[in-house]
Amino acid sequence: MPIIQIDDVTKVFPARATGAEPLTALDNVSIEVEKGDIFGIIGYSGAGKSTLVRLINALEKPTSGTVRVNGVEVSGLRERELRDVRLEIGMIFQQFNLFSSRTVWGNIEYPLRVAGVPKHEHQARISELLHFVGLVDQAHAYPDQLSGGQKQRVGIARALATSPSILLADEATSALDPETTRDVLALLKRVNEEFGVTIVVITHEMEVIKSIANKVAVMENGRIVERGNVFDIFSAPVATATQRFVSTIVTAVPEGDDLAVLRSRHPGRIVTFSFADGSTSQSGVFLTLGAAKVGFELIYGGINQVQARTFGHLTLALTGDDAVIDEALDRIRPVATVTEVA
Ligand SMILES: Nc1ncnc2c1ncn2[C@@H]1O[C@H](COP(=O)(O)OP(=O)(O)OP(=O)(O)O)[C@@H](O)[C@H]1O
Ligand SMILES: [Mg+2]
Repeated sequence: MPIIQIDDVTKVFPARATGAEPLTALDNVSIEVEKGDIFGIIGYSGAGKSTLVRLINALEKPTSGTVRVNGVEVSGLRERELRDVRLEIGMIFQQFNLFSSRTVWGNIEYPLRVAGVPKHEHQARISELLHFVGLVDQAHAYPDQLSGGQKQRVGIARALATSPSILLADEATSALDPETTRDVLALLKRVNEEFGVTIVVITHEMEVIKSIANKVAVMENGRIVERGNVFDIFSAPVATATQRFVSTIVTAVPEGDDLAVLRSRHPGRIVTFSFADGSTSQSGVFLTLGAAKVGFELIYGGINQVQARTFGHLTLALTGDDAVIDEALDRIRPVATVTEVA
């Protein structure tokens, strides 16, 4: 049974002003998150990402469709039952949402109080969390005295206080610099591996997905346009939106200005060879071209690693007799995807 199961959910917000149209923020969305996943949701602003995660902890109710957490349909729950479900779900935010009038200690203690954890258990739990996030020395500092990365560490400690099985992270690193982002993502990965917490990460940065997620769903205009294992999505994106996101960190088939520059610099045929999970097939390409005496020059592309698996796109300018090149390309097709670009 998936730990989170969203089936055919549509969410329509009523018109904000008279005469305005109601807004369909989610249009027939279904996702399944398995226990232990780090499930990424990526999309541009307004795609519906936050609305989707807010359904999981029932901060929003679906207009139609169902949301189940651990098999329990959350939209039908009363306030009391909802409290139990919410104890299972921690959340962290882009702007951290810490209580500025409470210390780091006080922020982490807050959910323990709300959950009715006996006072004498607080000290041990809070110290354990402070150690885990590396903020023992900041226990008595106020949020204003902390850096962004430290604030998010407090956010993570607070979200984990009641030992939830699910952590929702809505743009949790979007306000942080690249170095701090890496630290916070590494911490989230530890949360997943050491505590077995299932994590749903919302982001508009493919780098975030690449570095921690094992599955990803791509959203556009309230719909999921593509989903799958992170490796499959990175190595062979299908939807246009997915290709745009992947192209932010993967140099694939040259297009537009890049292609125009390559065309102006290189005579001959420009061909991209794509490899998924098997770097050995590269030598097949070079040996075949060499044996056929086709001239080649590597002009664009790269080899990538995602989830410890390799894929790549190598673009070559090929020179020689057209029929000889065609014959060589036919021999290469079994080991690489061949795209004749120009
Ligand atoms: N409470 C609300 N009332 C009316 N419309 C809303 C409400 N919440 C969200 N929306 C609209 O729903 C759509 C999806 O919003 P949502 O916040 O889920 O997008 P998002 O993908 O999280 O965007 P961002 O990356 O900017 O955070 C947007 O058009 C937004 O204006
Ligand atoms: Mg959002």
